Amino acid sequence: EDQLDRIRRLPKVELHLHHEGAAPPAFIKGLAQEKSVNLDGVFTPDGSYAFRDFVHFLSVYEAATSVLKTPEDYARLTKAVLEESAANDVVYSETFLSPDFCGGGDVGAWREYLHAIIEAANEAERDSGIILRGIVTCIRHFGPEKAKAAALCAAETAGDWITGFGIAGDEMKGKPKDFAYSFDMAREAGLRLTAHAGEWGGAQSVAASIRDLRVERIGHGVHAINDLALVDEIIESGITLEVCPGSNVTLGVYPSLAKHPIEHLRDRGVKVTVSTDDPPFFHTTMRDEYLNLARTFGWDEEVFGDINETAAKAAFCDEDTRDRVL
Ligand code: ADE
Ligand code: ZN
Repeated sequence: EDQLDRIRRLPKVELHLHHEGAAPPAFIKGLAQEKSVNLDGVFTPDGSYAFRDFVHFLSVYEAATSVLKTPEDYARLTKAVLEESAANDVVYSETFLSPDFCGGGDVGAWREYLHAIIEAANEAERDSGIILRGIVTCIRHFGPEKAKAAALCAAETAGDWITGFGIAGDEMKGKPKDFAYSFDMAREAGLRLTAHAGEWGGAQSVAASIRDLRVERIGHGVHAINDLALVDEIIESGITLEVCPGSNVTLGVYPSLAKHPIEHLRDRGVKVTVSTDDPPFFHTTMRDEYLNLARTFGWDEEVFGDINETAAKAAFCDEDTRDRVL
Protein backbone atom coordinates (compact mmCIF):
# COMPACT_ATOMS: atom_id res chain seq x y z
CA GLU A 1 0.00 0.00 0.00
CA ASP A 2 2.88 2.32 0.81
CA GLN A 3 4.42 1.62 -2.57
CA LEU A 4 1.09 2.27 -4.36
CA ASP A 5 0.67 5.51 -2.47
CA ARG A 6 4.14 6.67 -3.48
CA ILE A 7 3.29 5.85 -7.11
CA ARG A 8 0.02 7.81 -6.91
CA ARG A 9 1.91 10.85 -5.64
CA LEU A 10 4.76 10.85 -8.14
CA PRO A 11 5.30 14.05 -10.12
CA LYS A 12 3.76 13.50 -13.55
CA VAL A 13 4.13 14.78 -17.10
CA GLU A 14 0.95 14.67 -19.19
CA LEU A 15 1.18 15.08 -22.96
CA HIS A 16 -2.38 14.31 -24.09
CA LEU A 17 -5.22 16.34 -22.61
CA HIS A 18 -8.13 18.03 -24.39
CA HIS A 19 -8.88 21.40 -22.82
CA GLU A 20 -12.70 21.19 -23.13
CA GLY A 21 -12.55 17.47 -22.38
CA ALA A 22 -11.01 18.28 -19.01
CA ALA A 23 -13.96 20.51 -17.99
CA PRO A 24 -15.62 19.26 -14.80
CA PRO A 25 -19.35 18.58 -15.42
CA ALA A 26 -20.31 21.01 -12.62
CA PHE A 27 -18.31 23.76 -14.35
CA ILE A 28 -20.13 23.19 -17.66
CA LYS A 29 -23.50 23.00 -15.87
CA GLY A 30 -22.79 26.28 -14.08
CA LEU A 31 -21.94 28.08 -17.32
CA ALA A 32 -25.01 26.60 -19.03
CA GLN A 33 -27.20 28.02 -16.25
CA GLU A 34 -25.53 31.45 -16.39
CA LYS A 35 -26.03 31.63 -20.14
CA SER A 36 -29.38 29.82 -20.32
CA VAL A 37 -28.00 27.20 -22.70
CA ASN A 38 -30.06 24.01 -22.90
CA LEU A 39 -27.88 20.96 -22.29
CA ASP A 40 -30.57 18.26 -22.32
CA GLY A 41 -29.01 14.86 -22.89
CA VAL A 42 -25.46 15.91 -21.98
CA PHE A 43 -25.57 14.65 -18.38
CA THR A 44 -26.69 11.47 -16.64
CA PRO A 45 -29.10 11.84 -13.68
CA ASP A 46 -26.11 11.59 -11.31
CA GLY A 47 -24.36 14.48 -13.06
CA SER A 48 -21.67 12.84 -15.18
CA TYR A 49 -21.30 13.20 -18.93
CA ALA A 50 -23.65 10.83 -20.79
CA PHE A 51 -22.55 8.97 -23.92
CA ARG A 52 -23.09 5.54 -25.48
CA ASP A 53 -20.11 5.20 -27.77
CA PHE A 54 -17.29 7.21 -29.38
CA VAL A 55 -19.36 9.06 -32.00
CA HIS A 56 -21.94 9.94 -29.34
CA PHE A 57 -19.08 11.02 -27.05
CA LEU A 58 -17.90 13.47 -29.73
CA SER A 59 -21.37 15.01 -30.06
CA VAL A 60 -21.82 15.31 -26.26
CA TYR A 61 -18.32 16.85 -26.09
CA GLU A 62 -19.32 19.47 -28.68
CA ALA A 63 -22.63 20.19 -26.92
CA ALA A 64 -20.83 20.71 -23.58
CA THR A 65 -18.23 22.88 -25.34
CA SER A 66 -20.99 25.11 -26.77
CA VAL A 67 -21.37 26.85 -23.38
CA LEU A 68 -17.75 28.07 -23.58
CA LYS A 69 -18.48 31.26 -25.48
CA THR A 70 -15.87 33.88 -24.56
CA PRO A 71 -12.13 34.18 -23.85
CA GLU A 72 -13.10 34.77 -20.20
CA ASP A 73 -14.92 31.40 -20.17
CA TYR A 74 -11.73 29.75 -21.40
CA ALA A 75 -9.71 31.55 -18.73
CA ARG A 76 -12.04 30.16 -16.06
CA LEU A 77 -11.83 26.70 -17.66
CA THR A 78 -8.03 26.88 -17.68
CA LYS A 79 -7.98 27.67 -13.95
CA ALA A 80 -10.32 24.76 -13.16
CA VAL A 81 -8.37 22.32 -15.33
CA LEU A 82 -4.97 23.25 -13.92
CA GLU A 83 -6.18 23.12 -10.31
CA GLU A 84 -7.27 19.54 -10.93
CA SER A 85 -4.04 18.61 -12.74
CA ALA A 86 -1.91 20.12 -9.96
CA ALA A 87 -3.96 18.18 -7.37
CA ASN A 88 -2.88 15.06 -9.28
CA ASP A 89 0.80 16.04 -8.98
CA VAL A 90 1.03 16.91 -12.66
CA VAL A 91 4.03 19.23 -13.03
CA TYR A 92 3.89 19.75 -16.80
CA SER A 93 0.96 19.38 -19.16
CA GLU A 94 0.26 19.89 -22.86
CA THR A 95 -3.32 20.70 -23.76
CA PHE A 96 -5.13 20.48 -27.09
CA LEU A 97 -6.83 23.75 -28.06
CA SER A 98 -9.02 24.09 -31.14
CA PRO A 99 -9.54 27.42 -32.91
CA ASP A 100 -12.80 25.83 -34.15
CA PHE A 101 -14.14 26.19 -30.59
CA CYS A 102 -12.16 29.37 -29.79
CA GLY A 103 -13.34 31.96 -32.29
CA GLY A 104 -14.46 29.69 -35.13
CA GLY A 105 -11.11 29.69 -36.96
CA ASP A 106 -10.70 33.48 -37.15
CA VAL A 107 -7.10 34.44 -36.34
CA GLY A 108 -7.97 37.68 -34.52
CA ALA A 109 -10.56 35.98 -32.31
CA TRP A 110 -8.20 33.05 -31.68
CA ARG A 111 -5.53 35.47 -30.43
CA GLU A 112 -7.98 36.81 -27.83
CA TYR A 113 -8.86 33.33 -26.55
CA LEU A 114 -5.21 32.36 -26.45
CA HIS A 115 -4.26 35.51 -24.53
CA ALA A 116 -6.90 34.76 -21.87
CA ILE A 117 -5.82 31.10 -21.62
CA ILE A 118 -2.12 31.95 -21.26
CA GLU A 119 -2.84 34.56 -18.56
CA ALA A 120 -4.81 31.99 -16.58
CA ALA A 121 -2.05 29.41 -17.08
CA ASN A 122 0.60 31.86 -15.87
CA GLU A 123 -1.47 32.55 -12.77
CA ALA A 124 -1.78 28.81 -12.10
CA GLU A 125 1.97 28.41 -12.58
CA ARG A 126 2.59 31.12 -9.98
CA ASP A 127 0.15 29.42 -7.56
CA SER A 128 1.12 25.75 -7.89
CA GLY A 129 4.16 25.58 -10.15
CA ILE A 130 2.34 23.61 -12.87
CA ILE A 131 3.56 24.39 -16.39
CA LEU A 132 1.12 24.35 -19.32
CA ARG A 133 1.81 24.48 -23.05
CA GLY A 134 -0.69 24.40 -25.95
CA ILE A 135 -1.05 22.27 -29.05
CA VAL A 136 -3.40 23.70 -31.67
CA THR A 137 -5.65 20.92 -32.85
CA CYS A 138 -7.82 20.59 -35.92
CA ILE A 139 -10.89 18.37 -35.81
CA ARG A 140 -10.90 15.60 -38.36
CA HIS A 141 -14.67 15.36 -38.86
CA PHE A 142 -14.88 19.11 -39.47
CA GLY A 143 -12.89 18.49 -42.67
CA PRO A 144 -9.69 19.73 -44.35
CA GLU A 145 -10.88 23.32 -45.01
CA LYS A 146 -11.53 23.99 -41.31
CA ALA A 147 -8.19 22.33 -40.59
CA LYS A 148 -6.45 24.90 -42.82
CA ALA A 149 -7.98 27.74 -40.80
CA ALA A 150 -6.81 26.03 -37.59
CA ALA A 151 -3.31 25.57 -39.04
CA LEU A 152 -3.19 29.26 -39.97
CA CYS A 153 -4.16 30.19 -36.40
CA ALA A 154 -1.43 27.82 -35.18
CA ALA A 155 1.20 29.26 -37.53
CA GLU A 156 0.30 32.85 -36.54
CA THR A 157 0.70 32.10 -32.83
CA ALA A 158 3.56 29.56 -32.92
CA GLY A 159 6.17 30.21 -30.26
CA ASP A 160 7.13 29.46 -26.67
CA TRP A 161 3.58 28.65 -25.62
CA ILE A 162 1.89 27.23 -28.72
CA THR A 163 4.45 24.56 -29.44
CA GLY A 164 2.61 22.03 -31.58
CA PHE A 165 -0.12 21.18 -34.05
CA GLY A 166 -2.33 18.11 -34.05
CA ILE A 167 -5.53 16.48 -35.16
CA ALA A 168 -8.32 14.96 -33.05
CA GLY A 169 -11.91 13.96 -33.77
CA ASP A 170 -13.43 11.06 -35.67
CA GLU A 171 -10.57 8.93 -36.95
CA MET A 172 -12.89 7.02 -39.29
CA LYS A 173 -13.64 10.19 -41.30
CA GLY A 174 -11.29 11.09 -44.17
CA LYS A 175 -7.63 10.18 -44.53
CA PRO A 176 -4.48 11.67 -42.98
CA LYS A 177 -3.35 12.82 -46.44
CA ASP A 178 -6.37 15.16 -46.62
CA PHE A 179 -4.73 17.14 -43.80
CA ALA A 180 -1.14 17.11 -45.11
CA TYR A 181 -1.40 20.72 -46.32
CA SER A 182 -2.26 21.90 -42.79
CA PHE A 183 0.49 19.84 -41.18
CA ASP A 184 3.01 21.18 -43.74
CA MET A 185 1.97 24.74 -42.91
CA ALA A 186 2.35 24.05 -39.16
CA ARG A 187 5.76 22.37 -39.65
CA GLU A 188 6.99 25.33 -41.70
CA ALA A 189 5.97 27.63 -38.83
CA GLY A 190 8.27 25.64 -36.54
CA LEU A 191 5.56 23.68 -34.76
CA ARG A 192 6.04 20.11 -33.54
CA LEU A 193 3.49 17.57 -34.74
CA THR A 194 1.23 14.89 -33.27
CA ALA A 195 -1.87 13.10 -34.61
CA HIS A 196 -4.63 10.98 -33.08
CA ALA A 197 -4.35 7.60 -34.83
CA GLY A 198 -4.73 3.94 -34.03
CA GLU A 199 -7.43 4.61 -31.44
CA TRP A 200 -10.36 3.60 -33.67
CA GLY A 201 -8.42 3.00 -36.86
CA GLY A 202 -6.04 0.09 -37.26
CA ALA A 203 -2.29 -0.07 -37.65
CA GLN A 204 -2.61 1.26 -41.22
CA SER A 205 -4.12 4.48 -39.84
CA VAL A 206 -1.01 4.94 -37.67
CA ALA A 207 1.27 4.16 -40.63
CA ALA A 208 -0.56 6.64 -42.88
CA SER A 209 -0.34 9.40 -40.23
CA ILE A 210 3.41 8.88 -39.86
CA ARG A 211 3.94 8.80 -43.63
CA ASP A 212 1.59 11.59 -44.74
CA LEU A 213 1.68 13.97 -41.75
CA ARG A 214 5.29 13.31 -40.64
CA VAL A 215 4.40 13.45 -36.95
CA GLU A 216 6.86 12.76 -34.15
CA ARG A 217 4.18 11.69 -31.66
CA ILE A 218 0.99 9.69 -32.05
CA GLY A 219 -2.10 10.19 -29.88
CA HIS A 220 -3.10 6.70 -28.71
CA GLY A 221 -1.41 4.65 -31.46
CA VAL A 222 -2.32 1.50 -29.58
CA HIS A 223 -3.55 -0.44 -32.63
CA ALA A 224 0.01 -0.33 -33.98
CA ILE A 225 0.42 -3.48 -31.88
CA ASN A 226 -1.42 -5.39 -34.63
CA ASP A 227 1.49 -4.84 -37.05
CA LEU A 228 4.86 -5.68 -35.51
CA ALA A 229 6.78 -4.33 -38.52
CA LEU A 230 5.10 -0.99 -37.85
CA VAL A 231 6.00 -1.28 -34.16
CA ASP A 232 9.64 -1.72 -35.21
CA GLU A 233 9.36 1.36 -37.46
CA ILE A 234 7.92 3.38 -34.55
CA ILE A 235 10.82 2.29 -32.36
CA GLU A 236 13.46 3.05 -35.02
CA SER A 237 12.06 6.49 -35.81
CA GLY A 238 11.81 7.37 -32.09
CA ILE A 239 8.11 8.20 -32.24
CA THR A 240 6.44 8.59 -28.84
CA LEU A 241 2.95 7.25 -28.14
CA GLU A 242 0.57 9.31 -26.00
CA VAL A 243 -1.28 6.35 -24.50
CA CYS A 244 -4.54 6.98 -22.60
CA PRO A 245 -5.44 3.64 -21.03
CA GLY A 246 -8.49 4.72 -19.00
CA SER A 247 -9.96 6.50 -22.03
CA ASN A 248 -9.49 3.38 -24.16
CA VAL A 249 -11.18 1.12 -21.60
CA THR A 250 -14.12 3.48 -20.96
CA LEU A 251 -14.75 3.97 -24.69
CA GLY A 252 -14.47 0.22 -25.32
CA VAL A 253 -11.31 0.20 -27.44
CA TYR A 254 -10.18 -2.63 -25.10
CA PRO A 255 -12.40 -4.60 -22.73
CA SER A 256 -10.14 -4.10 -19.69
CA LEU A 257 -6.82 -2.63 -18.65
CA ALA A 258 -5.42 -6.17 -18.36
CA LYS A 259 -6.13 -6.64 -22.09
CA HIS A 260 -4.69 -3.22 -23.05
CA PRO A 261 -1.45 -3.41 -25.11
CA ILE A 262 0.45 -0.69 -23.18
CA GLU A 263 2.69 -3.19 -21.42
CA HIS A 264 3.33 -5.17 -24.59
CA LEU A 265 4.27 -1.97 -26.48
CA ARG A 266 6.59 -0.86 -23.67
CA ASP A 267 8.24 -4.27 -23.41
CA ARG A 268 9.01 -4.24 -27.13
CA GLY A 269 10.77 -0.89 -26.69
CA VAL A 270 8.22 1.68 -27.84
CA LYS A 271 8.42 5.10 -26.16
CA VAL A 272 5.18 4.94 -24.18
CA THR A 273 3.72 7.77 -22.09
CA VAL A 274 0.53 7.93 -19.98
CA SER A 275 -2.25 10.55 -20.17
CA THR A 276 -5.94 10.96 -19.32
CA ASP A 277 -7.37 12.37 -22.62
CA ASP A 278 -10.66 13.76 -21.19
CA PRO A 279 -10.54 12.94 -17.47
CA PRO A 280 -14.08 13.76 -16.23
CA PHE A 281 -15.68 12.13 -19.28
CA PHE A 282 -13.82 8.91 -18.55
CA HIS A 283 -14.01 9.11 -14.74
CA THR A 284 -10.25 9.16 -14.49
CA THR A 285 -7.37 11.29 -13.19
CA MET A 286 -3.60 11.03 -13.59
CA ARG A 287 -3.42 9.52 -10.09
CA ASP A 288 -6.00 6.90 -11.06
CA GLU A 289 -4.14 6.06 -14.28
CA TYR A 290 -0.90 5.44 -12.38
CA LEU A 291 -2.61 3.47 -9.61
CA ASN A 292 -4.52 1.27 -12.06
CA LEU A 293 -1.38 0.56 -14.13
CA ALA A 294 0.59 -0.30 -10.97
CA ARG A 295 -2.15 -2.67 -9.80
CA THR A 296 -2.73 -4.31 -13.19
CA PHE A 297 0.84 -4.70 -14.43
CA GLY A 298 2.82 -4.56 -11.19
CA TRP A 299 4.73 -1.51 -12.43
CA ASP A 300 6.96 0.05 -9.76
CA GLU A 301 8.28 3.56 -9.18
CA GLU A 302 11.19 2.91 -11.51
CA VAL A 303 8.84 2.15 -14.42
CA PHE A 304 6.82 5.30 -13.79
CA GLY A 305 10.00 7.33 -13.42
CA ASP A 306 11.05 6.04 -16.83
CA ILE A 307 7.64 6.85 -18.33
CA ASN A 308 7.82 10.41 -16.98
CA GLU A 309 11.33 10.89 -18.33
CA THR A 310 10.15 9.63 -21.72
CA ALA A 311 7.27 12.12 -21.60
CA ALA A 312 9.52 15.03 -20.59
CA LYS A 313 11.87 14.23 -23.48
CA ALA A 314 8.96 14.06 -25.94
CA ALA A 315 7.43 17.32 -24.68
CA PHE A 316 7.17 20.06 -27.30
CA CYS A 317 8.45 22.86 -25.03
CA ASP A 318 11.90 24.44 -25.26
CA GLU A 319 14.93 22.98 -23.44
CA ASP A 320 14.88 25.53 -20.60
CA THR A 321 11.28 24.64 -19.78
CA ARG A 322 12.01 20.90 -20.04
CA ASP A 323 14.90 21.36 -17.57
CA ARG A 324 12.44 22.80 -15.03
CA VAL A 325 10.39 19.57 -15.23
CA LEU A 326 11.44 16.50 -13.16
N1 ADE B 1 -11.43 14.55 -28.80
C1 ADE B 1 -11.48 14.45 -27.47
N2 ADE B 1 -11.14 13.22 -27.07
C2 ADE B 1 -10.86 12.51 -28.19
C3 ADE B 1 -10.45 11.18 -28.45
N3 ADE B 1 -10.24 10.29 -27.47
N4 ADE B 1 -10.27 10.80 -29.73
C4 ADE B 1 -10.48 11.68 -30.72
N5 ADE B 1 -10.86 12.92 -30.54
C5 ADE B 1 -11.05 13.35 -29.28
ZN1 ZN C 1 -7.35 12.59 -27.40
